[in-house]
Parts: sequence; C-alpha cells; structure tokens
Amino acid sequence: MQQTLILVKPDGVHRRLVGVIIERFEQKGMRLAGLKLVQTSRALAEKHYAVHKGKPFYDSLLQFITSGPTVAMVWEGREAVAAARTLLGPTDGAKAPPGTLRGDFGLSVQNNLVHGSDSPENAAAEIALWFRPDELVSYASNDASWI
Ligand code: RTP
Ligand code: MG
Repeated sequence: MQQTLILVKPDGVHRRLVGVIIERFEQKGMRLAGLKLVQTSRALAEKHYAVHKGKPFYDSLLQFITSGPTVAMVWEGREAVAAARTLLGPTDGAKAPPGTLRGDFGLSVQNNLVHGSDSPENAAAEIALWFRPDELVSYASNDASWI
C-alpha cells in the first residue's frame, strides 16, 4: 500500500484547521499510519525543502515552516501520493478550486496549509526524515475491502 507524508503547516495549526484536514483524508478512505505534533527545527526544514534551496521564496519558506507547530502525518492507501495531492489542490490558494483544502481555506501561495509528497520516491524519503520506523503503525482497517 502506498504511503505519503502530509504536513499541516503552522498556519493550519494556528487557524485550528487540523481537524478539518484530517477529516478530508479519513473521508477519502485513507488510513492513518503516523501522527505527531512537531516544532520543526531549521535543520529538518532545510532537509525537507532542500529542492527549493536558492529559489527566491526559500528563506521565507523556512522561516514560515519553523515559525510554529506542524502536524506531521503518514497516510496510506491506493495511489495515496497522487490522491493526497488532489485533496490539497494547486500550490496557490487563490487558484485552487473549491473542494480542495487549499481552495476552500486560503488565498496565499506560501501559507497554503498543507504539504503533500509529490512522488512515491519523495514520500519514502520524507517519511524517513519525519518519522522513526517505530512511530509508524501498520494495521488492517475493517472497511478496507469496501474502499
Ligand atoms: P508542498 O511541497 O508544500 O506540498 O507544496 P507544493 O508541492 O504545492 O509546492 P512547491 O513548489 O513544492 O513549494 C513548496 C512550498 O513553498 C511555498 N511556496 N512559496 N512565494 C512563492 O512563490 C512560493 N512558491 C512556493 C509554498 O508553501 C509551497 O507549498
Ligand atoms: Mg512540493
């Protein structure tokens, strides 16, 4: 079963949208495999967003992601990486369509509430960055055969 890393960024925690965001993933039929509240360190943020180093928004992005608590989660299911990105919507909240998390709850490009891994390879690397193996739980959902 495919896994993806989902982060509720500090804006989502401060705006009390953690519950709504978790609800979307539950409603979709994904299974929660890991969950914790993290005060992200500069070192972790640099590793997580290494691909964006050198871009104009990099410093601001690191300042934002380390500015407050982040909820880190691992969700799993069929095509979980792509399905999660669909639930998030495009990066820019102003352009994200209604029905997506970014489309329903924001107008900002940077403060766009949620991170989702963009490929299965990156998902595996990001999960290893944010979680120890013993922090992930594997179990069978009773409704799995229906979903
Ligand atoms: P994410 O990695 O957080 O899931 O977001 P994404 O794939 O949709 O967007 P990405 O291009 O990977 O950008 C990472 C995060 O950087 C911030 N950003 N700011 N000011 C800007 O032009 C700008 N562009 C991107 C956003 O927080 C974005 O999610
Ligand atoms: Mg990205």
